[in-house]
Amino acid sequence: MRPSRRQAVRPATVLRREALIVTVPVALAALLAAAGPASAIGSGAPGAGDPYFPLAGNGGYHVDHYDLTLRYDPDSRHLDGTAVLTAHATQLLTRFDLDFKGLKVTGLTVDHTAADFRRDGQELVVTPGRPLFPGEEFRVTVAYNGTPKPVTDPDGSLDGWIPTDDGAFVAGEPQGAMTWFPANNHPKDKSSYDITVTVPKGRTAVSNGVLVGQRTAQGHTTFHWRQREPMAAYLATATVGKFEVEQYTTHNGIRVYNAVDPREASDAESVLKKLPSVLEWESKLFGPYPFRNAGSIVDRAPDVGYALETQSRPLYDSAPDLSTLVHENAHQWFGDSVSLTSWKDIWLNEGFATYAEWLYEEQHGGDTAQETFDELYDRPASDDLWEFPPGDPGSGENIFGTPVYERGAMALHALRTAVGDRTFFRILRAWATEHRGGHGTTRQFVHLAEQESRKNLDSVFTTWLYSAGKPNTP
Ligand code: ARG
Ligand code: ZN
Repeated sequence: MRPSRRQAVRPATVLRREALIVTVPVALAALLAAAGPASAIGSGAPGAGDPYFPLAGNGGYHVDHYDLTLRYDPDSRHLDGTAVLTAHATQLLTRFDLDFKGLKVTGLTVDHTAADFRRDGQELVVTPGRPLFPGEEFRVTVAYNGTPKPVTDPDGSLDGWIPTDDGAFVAGEPQGAMTWFPANNHPKDKSSYDITVTVPKGRTAVSNGVLVGQRTAQGHTTFHWRQREPMAAYLATATVGKFEVEQYTTHNGIRVYNAVDPREASDAESVLKKLPSVLEWESKLFGPYPFRNAGSIVDRAPDVGYALETQSRPLYDSAPDLSTLVHENAHQWFGDSVSLTSWKDIWLNEGFATYAEWLYEEQHGGDTAQETFDELYDRPASDDLWEFPPGDPGSGENIFGTPVYERGAMALHALRTAVGDRTFFRILRAWATEHRGGHGTTRQFVHLAEQESRKNLDSVFTTWLYSAGKPNTP
């Protein structure tokens, strides 16, 4: 039962690690066999340990790259897909899970060998033909099809592959990625992506990163997108519709791709024109824009009711106003480049993006952030704003609630008041820079703020992030 040596050419580091691993005593393999399928030995956990979404993500491996090949027919709403995941094991794996909900799986291989699988709610449980060893790279190929259906989030909103009258609005926060591809569906796990989508000629499929190819044949157009910078699964999109497309490069060398539903075009025009100046303004405040590509997807999706900061190219359910454009693009730094490790820390995304709106106002002739803060602070203790503390929303139902956005921004403003402007903006930039392309936690942010300011900020953060009810003093 020694694991067979793999054929594929892989980096030397992987081969070296594997060389050590293949010497694991035969006794271990015997033990695993004797333990039987019910044993937890070698099973990757069904979740990444998130307190709000216990089944989101999975244990035991990390996905390095997703290669998704999709074909969507907006009329029949049928999706055909093949997902190739290049991953590596972080523990011994006799079995591991993917998150995948709804669509039918028609074939599954691990390293080109058929693997056993079964469905259990959102878990696609895979048993490869042989154990995978810690550090070993492996490739999972899943063929699937069917009519994708969005999930309903704990807050009641739709999330995932959401059909529209001319295609689909594809957004995944926090859970919906699993409605259209098998994933390690938690922001803890970031990967690069190739997303190739074939749609009937006349429709456009827009995804993340750069459009590396587009060709039309036999009445269909194939769009091949590539997101090189690491991305959380919830930020992936493959939005389909009839779109007007505009492409240009900003004078800072960022390639912009805008796709706009023609019915939203006249409302969107003046705001979309501001994208380069918004990105430039944000880069001055937060540090260099974290991606090579940017843009906007402006759809008409009346069932959705929110916009999403899909990586490198935010997605809007209708023509956005300027604050929404500022908000979703601020997320490129806060949320996309610097990702959550737990949904509980959601204020690190929403509080920051909301505070970016306040700052934009302040620096463009509108209310100062202090005025915005004061106006919110004036709300009575019974207001929704004080319903729960933003650092501890309590459940997945609350992660997009007012306290997360508005009181989260108030927490940043309180920090600014405590440390002064120079230090505050240095903290924001240091946060985006030091965690660029990776992750951050509230604890790390507090630590950074204390380090940069050389102040004990306990009372600021305790009051604004963690205390129940309306704080006694602003
Ligand atoms: N992150 C999005 C924003 O910045 C909100 C996503 C809401 N998603 C949801 N399923 N309720 O506004
Ligand atoms: Zn947001």
